[in-house]
Amino acid sequence: MVHLGRSRVATSLDFEEAEELVCSTREILGKIPKLDFRTLGEAFRQIPVSNEAAHSAAIAALFPYARQLLALSKTKNPAWYRKNATLDGVIIDIDKVFSVWMQMLRHLELWRSAKGVVEGVTISVERGDSRKSLGRKEAFDGLLTSPPYLTRLDYVQATMPELLLLKEFDIVPDLQRLRRSMIGSPLTSRRPDHSAVRLPTSIKELLNRISTHKSKASDSYYYNFFSTYFIDLQASIKNIAKAMKSGASGCVVVQSSNYKEIEINLAASLISLGEQCGLTHLRSVDFASNRSISLVNSRAHEDARRPKKETAVFFRNE
Ligand SMILES: C[S@@+](CC[C@H](N)C(=O)[O-])C[C@H]1O[C@@H](n2cnc3c(N)ncnc32)[C@H](O)[C@@H]1O
Repeated sequence: MVHLGRSRVATSLDFEEAEELVCSTREILGKIPKLDFRTLGEAFRQIPVSNEAAHSAAIAALFPYARQLLALSKTKNPAWYRKNATLDGVIIDIDKVFSVWMQMLRHLELWRSAKGVVEGVTISVERGDSRKSLGRKEAFDGLLTSPPYLTRLDYVQATMPELLLLKEFDIVPDLQRLRRSMIGSPLTSRRPDHSAVRLPTSIKELLNRISTHKSKASDSYYYNFFSTYFIDLQASIKNIAKAMKSGASGCVVVQSSNYKEIEINLAASLISLGEQCGLTHLRSVDFASNRSISLVNSRAHEDARRPKKETAVFFRNE
């Protein structure tokens, strides 16, 4: 995410530098006709990182290629790669990979949002866990975000090609730790009971309906999953509210979902969590979504396969 974020705010000069990084990688590799990702990554890593935006753009440009190469490791679940999915042993033609790399870099440049350098404006992209303090109080004039939805999508599994590429090109992410720190991770553990007590009444009622549902594991795995999600979301909203200036506004995009026949109106839950932290709900705008994972999962519950709506929820920090 951080590499995509940096690419998005990179300048045209950063993209020129990214092209130079790609050319230098090719020079380091010399005349070998075929290679694997490890060799490509080793050559790329020999170049010192002097410009983070250029470095990120060069890496992000290869993400779609890694995704294409790993497509064979897909399982029936459209968002899931085989457990042992790997790019190891995938042999690539050097001319092909460098031509694709350059092409993708130019494509990525069209997608960037910073069209020119604005005097006095510096954009920085940082990474962190929103459940922990963001380290800045009343610092931001605005907020735009979207938390994981209650779809039990495993973001780490779903971004396996990009993470395998990062392993060779940047730093080795600790995948298990990353999976556990995702809000809404299906690997979730149960939070202490006193944390659930602090949730808004409407969410506590929803959790009660889930835990007393007659279907298997409702009062164990599923209660743990949903309660942990709301407790983590509550911690995130609290930190976000603290980091916003008084009077600042924000927008959070969420999607509704179902537990069996129980509708989970995530926008309504978010509004109640926001109100607890001094965020006044201004308005909500619904739009149809065709990107839900449950829409393409033929094994999903009938209710879960109905078209989804996403909601942009607008707030002001009082
Ligand atoms: C619905 S996606 C939104 C993605 C982003 N808005 C975009 O357009 O690409 C949810 C994102 O929340 C991130 N996330 C999950 N847990 C998090 C946490 N504890 N702290 C910060 N981000 C988290 C995931 O990595 C994922 O990228």
